[in-house]
Parts: sequence; structure tokens; C-alpha cells
Amino acid sequence: AEAERAQMRKATDLAAKLYHHVLVATPYGEKARQYLAKRDVSPEAIKEFQLGYAPASFQFLLSFLKRRGFQEELLEKAGLLSTRQEAGVTKYYDRFRDRIMFPILDSQGRVIAFGGRLLGDGRPKYLNSPETPIFSKGNHLFNLHRARSHIRKEQQAILFEGYMDVISAWQAGIPGCVATLGTSLTDDQARVLKRNVETVILCYDSDQAGQNAAARALELLRKQECTVKVAQMPLGLDPDDYIRRFGGTAFKEEVLSAALSLTAFKLESLKRNYNLQDEDERMKYLVEAVAAVAELPLVIEQDHYLRRLAEEFGLSLDALKEDLRRAKKRKK
Ligand code: UTP
Ligand code: MN
Ligand code: MN
Ligand code: MN
Ligand code: MN
Repeated sequence: AEAERAQMRKATDLAAKLYHHVLVATPYGEKARQYLAKRDVSPEAIKEFQLGYAPASFQFLLSFLKRRGFQEELLEKAGLLSTRQEAGVTKYYDRFRDRIMFPILDSQGRVIAFGGRLLGDGRPKYLNSPETPIFSKGNHLFNLHRARSHIRKEQQAILFEGYMDVISAWQAGIPGCVATLGTSLTDDQARVLKRNVETVILCYDSDQAGQNAAARALELLRKQECTVKVAQMPLGLDPDDYIRRFGGTAFKEEVLSAALSLTAFKLESLKRNYNLQDEDERMKYLVEAVAAVAELPLVIEQDHYLRRLAEEFGLSLDALKEDLRRAKKRKK
């Protein structure tokens, strides 16, 4: 089985090299080169991330790898080919067609899988490698291999949702970034992060899906006892959009540096459930907010957030402290 996995890695590595070659050095890659240029992906980033292009053919990778002696069955198991039944016979064809290819590396820097993006609209926007003997989505993080030395040194990693967010940040001189692979963060991925860093800055898309995913990721990272911060962007933007629109410096100063602590993030999320213009609702929010503050382990933290609430809502700190005391009592 290990011999088979070695073969799969070899095939996957060759596929990455072929897709990259097609992108950078052939006429077939022209459309994809234009697409990437339009998205401000630099030639340096294309090289660094070994980006590629899978041509719009059912036989391209298949015939290339067959000529090099690989069996179709193995290539299918490696997630490079798909199959269909034709009159009782299994037919193999290229899984990735007409897509920009993002190689996914393991901890040793070997290509083990791909994400593939359509150049236009359509579904799925990203097609990823399936689970294979050399790749399980839930154990790997995009760009960890490249980011590891940086995040260890800084004891801080930025966690994004998407491949393009990582690449944009890298281009902006922010190398300590990783992303999940089309699923929500898993326990295993959280553990991997904890092994490498103390602090994780969550920087998810500012749409509802992204915010929900951030809330789930938060809990998993807390369970691993990571310090978690949550970065937020103007509504509708993702990190790649933000960096392209406002630049890397703004991203560092306005988004990363302003990342909220876990508690501040919770208080902000809670707010969205209430219409704060309405007096009754404002009071309900404050009751919930004080209850959340009561959960904090340190009294200095509680004091800090109570002061912020007092200031924000023009209330007396004493009143909030009294309500905090009662909230704690109710809990017991
Ligand atoms: P997004 O929809 O936010 O895509 O999904 P994106 O990263 O911003 O990509 P662009 O900018 O439109 O090119 C976030 C991540 O979720 C996974 C991918 O890993 C993607 O980067 N995803 C998304 C899929 O696996 N399949 C999909 O169909 C869509
Ligand atoms: Mn390396
Ligand atoms: Mn999204
Ligand atoms: Mn996005
Ligand atoms: Mn995007």
C-alpha cells in the first residue's frame, strides 16, 4: 500500500508540473493567464504557488500519465481521473477540465491534491480532489507548508476561507496565512494550528456563511486553547477583495490590527439579534451581554468589557457591576 501511495504522489506531482507548464508556457494557457492577470495574481505568485491550468479536455492528463506508465485505476484512486460506465465498461477521463489548478501540499511539501477553479461562472466554482489514500481534507491546511516557519516565529497564524485569500495576502507581504480546503475547520486542523502557534487570527468572508463558519471555527480553536482573534471586513468583501481594493497596508492596519478579541466578537455578534434603536431591545441586549461577560474567567477581563459597555451605552459602571453580580448568582 505504501508503494501504491508513492505512485500516487508521483502521478500527482507530475500532474502539478504539467498543469503549471500548460499555464505558463503554452497557448492553451492563454485564457487562464488572462484570468489570473485580471485578478492581479502576479507571475511570482503563479510560480510560488505552482498554479496551473487543466485544459478543457477529457483525455489530456489521462494520456500524458498513461504514456508514463501509470494505470488508470491508480490515477482514479488518486483523484486525478473520474469514471463513467459505458455499456458495462469502465471509462476513465480527466477529473479537472478547464480549471485554474491550486496544488495542495502536505507537511513535507509534496503535492497531494488540487483545488480547481472555473474561469467563469458555473458550478461547482471550485472542484477539489476527493478523499484519497494520500489526502484527507480534514487533516490538511492550504499553504501550511510554506507558512510554517513564519507562523512559528511569530506564534501567530491567519486563517482564511479561500485559496485566493492566501495568495493575495502572500502578494501583500503577509506570508503567515493558511486556509481550510472547502470545508469548515476540523478538530484535526485546529490541533495542527495549536501545535504551531499560540494565536490564530480568524479572517473569514464577511457574508453570513463566513460569519457562521467563523463562529464554529472559534469554538474549535478555543477547545485547543488557542488565543483567537476575529478580523472583520466591510460587508460583502472577502480578504482577497479587500486587499485588491484597499491594498496590503490597509489590510494589515485596518483589518488585522483591529481584529477583535473573542469576547468583543461575541458581543458584536450578539448585537445583530437586536434593534439597538429600540429601548426595550437595547435592554435585552445588555442583559445578554452582561451574561456573556459573566462567563469570562478573569475578573480583569470582566471589568474591561463592563467598562466598554458602560461607555458605549452611557450607563453607570456600578449598575453594570451589580447586574453582573446577579447574573453570576443566577448561574450558580
Ligand atoms: P468562496 O466562495 O469564498 O471562494 O469559498 P473564494 O475563495 O473567495 O474564491 P474566488 O475569489 O471566488 O475565486 C471559499 C473556499 O471554499 C471552497 C474553496 O476552498 C474556496 O477557496 N469552495 C468554494 C469549494 O471547495 N467549492 C466551491 O464550490 C466553493
Ligand atoms: Mn519549503
Ligand atoms: Mn464565501
Ligand atoms: Mn471568498
Ligand atoms: Mn474571493
